[in-house]
Amino acid sequence: MLNILVVIGTRPEAIKLSPIVLELQKHSDKIYVEICITAQHRSLLDDVLINFNITSDHDLDLMSDNQTLEEISSKSLTGISSILKQRSFDWILVQGDTSTALSAALSGFYNRVKVGHIEAGLRTYNKWEPYPEEINRQLISKIADLHFAPTLSAKNNLSAEGVEEETIIVTGNTVVDSLAIASDSQPSKHIQNILDTNHPNKKIIAITAHRRENFGKPLTMICEAIKKLANKYHNECHFIYPVHPNPNVQGTAYNVLNNISNISLIEPLDYFDFIHLLKQSFLIITDSGGIQEEAPSLQIPVFILRNNTERTEGIQNKVGLILGTDKENIITEVSKVIDSESEYHQYIQASNPYGDGQASTRIVNKLLSYPYSEFVES
Ligand code: UD1
Ligand code: UDP
Repeated sequence: MLNILVVIGTRPEAIKLSPIVLELQKHSDKIYVEICITAQHRSLLDDVLINFNITSDHDLDLMSDNQTLEEISSKSLTGISSILKQRSFDWILVQGDTSTALSAALSGFYNRVKVGHIEAGLRTYNKWEPYPEEINRQLISKIADLHFAPTLSAKNNLSAEGVEEETIIVTGNTVVDSLAIASDSQPSKHIQNILDTNHPNKKIIAITAHRRENFGKPLTMICEAIKKLANKYHNECHFIYPVHPNPNVQGTAYNVLNNISNISLIEPLDYFDFIHLLKQSFLIITDSGGIQEEAPSLQIPVFILRNNTERTEGIQNKVGLILGTDKENIITEVSKVIDSESEYHQYIQASNPYGDGQASTRIVNKLLSYPYSEFVES
């Protein structure tokens, strides 16, 4: 029996690890799987697990209001390590670049448990953007025993850093697997009400923003740009913004954007509802990583509120555009696609460069076929 611990901390980890958990559970004759949630996020994480009908075996329940990186990292490290000491696991699976992911990888290393890194090899090579995720991922790559790279360019980054070729597997991003499951769900009454009652016949522009490096002035500029756009396109567009619960985001968003008739500031949506919102949207404006990977499957242009991106395939394939956080630039670029159909249609491409929906199967097959006898325990 292969013993695997899957560690999940935040909303994007839950979204991207859920299809892997479901796939692992299909092999219960060969694989024993436990799920640990650090609950670095509470409500956002719980919503996703409910969507996918996944229950945790260990809940560290760590989130506190406006938590620091140090608090969440140190508490995760101690909590996950104590689980690894209770039972002999062959693998710990971590996803991406969060504080939970880095702490889980470190716990695996300290306890001599092999580490599988999902979504390995993404890089900006800029230490401060995204902060602290760029360094988290680089550190996890130092620790991991298997690197599940979503794309060829992610694999190439790892190869250039000297990671052994046979430990890197190009899988596609598991978010494309998740998106397929979410797309098949029935829209809930909640999202149906939001879509039905809000400004029928207007183009929906979906917005999300939460990155630490955008807190303060950049987020204020982003919100001011949205306010200006909402006024300019009062008759044409309706802006729907599920506001992240981080108090640094809530404060700015509600301060600048409250009480504008064609802007809806709403609670975060559960994952399935959010995908139903995106499916009805004309444009997405976001600083999220995961949404950049989802948008091409839905054939919706994604405009990115960051100065650079590690998701370079979307820019090369012209499904996305980097806007940065400058107010005037955001207004100019968004206006272009609202004003001109030909400008807009440039961003509609037939395929998704980030995956084909089979990533979880590839990952689980690799774990099952791993040459365990050749692994030297020290
Ligand atoms: C973290 C991840 C980031 C990821 C983002 C996804 C790190 C270093 N960063 O952002 O990579 O893109 O999550 O959203 O791990 N909060 C709630 N309820 C929730 C979730 C959050 O109230 O369900 C509030 C809490 O006050 C919490 C705060 O948001 O303290 C920040 O959460 P945190 O996970 O620390 O956010 P980031 O580190 O910015
Ligand atoms: N998302 C969601 N509800 C929302 C906003 C976003 O389920 O109200 C999903 C979205 O589809 C994507 C993921 O959350 O898969 C992105 O998470 P987030 O923006 O928190 O983190 P990032 O992708 O930047 O790491």
